[in-house]
Amino acid sequence: MNRISEDVGKVRMYVGPAVMYTINMLVLFSVAIYKMVQIDIKLTLYTLIPFPLLSISIFVLSKIIHKRSTIVQEYLSKLTTFGQEVFSGINVIKSYTIEMQTAEDFDGLANESKEKNINLFKAQALFFPLMVLLIGMSNLIVIYVGGMQYINGLISIGTIAEFMMYVNMLTWPVAIVGWVTSTIQQAEASQKRINEFLEYTPEIISGDLAPNENIGDIVLNHVSLRYDDTNIEALKNINLHIEKGQTVAILGKTGSGKSSLLNLIARIYDPTAGAISIDNTPLKELDIYALRKKIGFVSQDPFLFSDSIANNISFGIEGARQEQIELAAKNAAIHENINSFKEKYGTVLGERGITVSGGQKQRISIARAIIKDPEILLLDDCLSAIDTETEAIILNNLKRISTNKTTIIVSHRISSAKHADKIIVLDQGQIVANGTHQSLIKETGYYSELFQQQLLEKE
Ligand SMILES: Nc1ncnc2c1ncn2[C@@H]1O[C@H](COP(=O)(O)OP(=O)(O)OP(=O)(O)O)[C@@H](O)[C@H]1O
Ligand SMILES: [Mg+2]
Repeated sequence: MNRISEDVGKVRMYVGPAVMYTINMLVLFSVAIYKMVQIDIKLTLYTLIPFPLLSISIFVLSKIIHKRSTIVQEYLSKLTTFGQEVFSGINVIKSYTIEMQTAEDFDGLANESKEKNINLFKAQALFFPLMVLLIGMSNLIVIYVGGMQYINGLISIGTIAEFMMYVNMLTWPVAIVGWVTSTIQQAEASQKRINEFLEYTPEIISGDLAPNENIGDIVLNHVSLRYDDTNIEALKNINLHIEKGQTVAILGKTGSGKSSLLNLIARIYDPTAGAISIDNTPLKELDIYALRKKIGFVSQDPFLFSDSIANNISFGIEGARQEQIELAAKNAAIHENINSFKEKYGTVLGERGITVSGGQKQRISIARAIIKDPEILLLDDCLSAIDTETEAIILNNLKRISTNKTTIIVSHRISSAKHADKIIVLDQGQIVANGTHQSLIKETGYYSELFQQQLLEKE
């Protein structure tokens, strides 16, 4: 946030006023000095003695300001991040009663930031007195050297007066030099931070092949995925064929790699080894935008925007009609719920969808995915906060609307998986079982254990 507001503002100060004042200063300087030289070269040279001193001190001071300004910008970022996080996590903070501690932490950070700011302003505050001092020295030199020349009868009183006027005319541009240099220094620090952001190259690069109209045949060939940041190998040598129109359920303990598998199919990540192809075309060669348009992805942690429910459901497709939105909501078993809200589909959600329940959030996200009428539907544990009855209704609706469409359901529940054409069990990134409900309950292993356990719970 800071980079796109604060830092951009700093650069704007450079591109606008700083450039203007520099031109102003250069013109004034050259005209005044030209006139001074015309009148008296010797006196001009004496007057300009303090100027090299000026450039050196400006140079040194600028360097210091640059360094301190970078630090100040970093602190501003830290403060913004802290504030933003605290407000979005306010419920957690309150339930753990750490308001005071959070306030203290913020205080600490704000104080550090204040120190850094004071440091910066100390350096900046040196500029003006330094200018005045050096201009004052010029004035003194004019009076002394000019006075001596007058006493010797070389120049008139008028010339001295004229020189003093020129020197004072130079005060403003010289003072501006300081402001301009510090602005340029700050802009440089800011531009660097902006560039870091702009030069970030995406790891996922789109191919240019348009996918088929009705894609859906997915093949994973010796696929492995290692996350760079944690160095965890989330998937190891996965071989899998999901045929067009199939419903596949993926089960497994937490951290077994289920979400990672879906992320690979939607090409949020690229596999570190092996290849994925859809309809015999490698995923990397497909146009990623066209591919994602055909995929309906409900992630494990659904994100809703602070906008109306209707817009939250329809945001993947332009100009969605109300009937379309309602149909999707009905299929996701959320229509009745929405109608009971005061403003119905126009109800505006709080930030991150804070004003709806977890199960409602999941169902709104499902509606958002199915309104796209996707060829491939990826559901990442998005029925977990929904009771089993509603779950059955949604699964039934999905079955009806997604005949001939490929559906992958990640779940921890047998009830979500048992009607699937194929069930896959993952463990530590590997496929440890593969079959149908009937075949898997006969084998010993995770699936049959889970089945027994959930059967008992039900009874
Ligand atoms: N974005 C990420 N960056 C780094 N490591 C990750 C990332 N996402 C997942 N992992 C790691 O990869 C492993 C597999 O995670 P994954 O999210 O695929 O599990 P999962 O089967 O979906 O678990 P759950 O049932 O809890 O959702 C975990 O050990 C996790 O720590
Ligand atoms: Mg997951």
